[in-house]
Amino acid sequence: MTFGSQEQPSLSAVRLMRTFGDGAQQKIALREVSVDMYPGQVALLMGPSGSGKSTLLAVLSGLLPPDSGQVLTHVSKSPAPVDIWALSQKEREEFRRAHVGFIFQGYNLFPALTASQQLEIVLKWGCNVGPRDARRQAEEMLERLGVISQRHKKPAELSGGEKQRVAIGRALVKNPTYLFADEPTSALDWENGQGVLQLLRDAAHDRNATIFIVSHDHRMLPFVDVCYQLEDGKLERQAADVATH
Ligand SMILES: Nc1ncnc2c1ncn2[C@@H]1O[C@H](COP(=O)(O)OP(=O)(O)OP(=O)(O)O)[C@@H](O)[C@H]1O
Ligand SMILES: [Mg+2]
Repeated sequence: MTFGSQEQPSLSAVRLMRTFGDGAQQKIALREVSVDMYPGQVALLMGPSGSGKSTLLAVLSGLLPPDSGQVLTHVSKSPAPVDIWALSQKEREEFRRAHVGFIFQGYNLFPALTASQQLEIVLKWGCNVGPRDARRQAEEMLERLGVISQRHKKPAELSGGEKQRVAIGRALVKNPTYLFADEPTSALDWENGQGVLQLLRDAAHDRNATIFIVSHDHRMLPFVDVCYQLEDGKLERQAADVATH
């Protein structure tokens, strides 16, 4: 699938800069990063450890403010794009609640909730779904991820791969417009990893979601529409033949 000039991006990063610390300790995590993301597109972001991948995901998703630059979204009713970092904090939280799914590198599950409740809470409090429907939708998603038998367990009782799949389910169950996935298959064997990739591709290609995946795994390349490389905070698009399928 190709995406390009004739189509309107769903999210655009414009010259994002982000540094951490100052003086001799200063680390430039993002150097003028610009990228256009499209509805229905699955993008893969690769790069060495410490190159700024998680930082970029956090800035694009409204979690971490950039020092400068913009993140323009087209989901609002206004015809002009909106910079999510020019919104009030309340507006940005509302944007995230309504449109953003995020799979964290460290899962970030709630310790006190069972696998099923992790998903139900997103549907009940984030999407106004009633308790019975929330339970049904949560269980359907856990079934698709192969962890339905673990639905009554809390994170401490789950394996790493099971926790990861619950975290993926929590992000996918709300059918987000944008899905950011930081190493979503790092704890999975390749068979389960492929199943997860298929779910992410379905979200993009069937529901027009915009998907941005961080991974070190080159086996993902045939499954994605575009691939970017981040090196020391600078983003480059990989040649088309690397990322076509
Ligand atoms: N909160 C922070 N405070 C200080 N430095 C930070 C902070 N977050 C990230 N950094 C630094 O910014 C750089 C980019 O970090 P980032 O987490 O984005 O890397 P990454 O590409 O996701 O790495 P990995 O593949 O290991 O997850 C690193 O040098 C890191 O040490
Ligand atoms: Mg990271």
